[in-house]
Amino acid sequence: MSARVAVWAAALAAALAGCSGGQGEAAGEPVSMTEAGMQSEEEIAAAAAGLDGRALFAERCGMCHQTIGMAVGILSRRPGDASGGLLEQREDLSATFVRTAVRTGILNMPRMPRAEVSDAELAAIANYLSRGKP
Ligand code: HEC
Repeated sequence: MSARVAVWAAALAAALAGCSGGQGEAAGEPVSMTEAGMQSEEEIAAAAAGLDGRALFAERCGMCHQTIGMAVGILSRRPGDASGGLLEQREDLSATFVRTAVRTGILNMPRMPRAEVSDAELAAIANYLSRGKP
């Protein structure tokens, strides 16, 4: 009789240990940048290489920056502007300037977060507008 109770108790103890064991382990592990949704510079560049910067510019920025967009009107009024207010006609844009303008916003342009344009998409757009100038 007592032997049976001991076997039952051992089985119960093992079952309980099995239950709690699974979850406790992962808690202390470091979370990598990729798991946290962040990408390294290399990962962003690699992802951007497969994207069409020109098409993405039309899709994400074109409503303001092409033909009748509000940005075209504002930028075309700048003294000395030779682009007709069109970013695609500019030769003085660097990729860093484009990225900073988009992520922080610039004067009348609201900032665009990653939910609206991902890092890889922005890198492809910036590369297109800057004609490869970093
Ligand atoms: C909601 C409209 C809007 C959208 C969308 C928008 N922009 Fe703009 N952007 C503007 C306006 C307006 C300006 C002019 C700011 C000013 O000088 O007052 C501007 C200015 C800029 C400038 C600065 C040009 C300069 O010489 O100062 C850059 C670069 C730029 N935008 C890039 C982009 C890119 C790239 C995208 C898409 C990812 C984008 N914008 C999307 C409205 C927009």
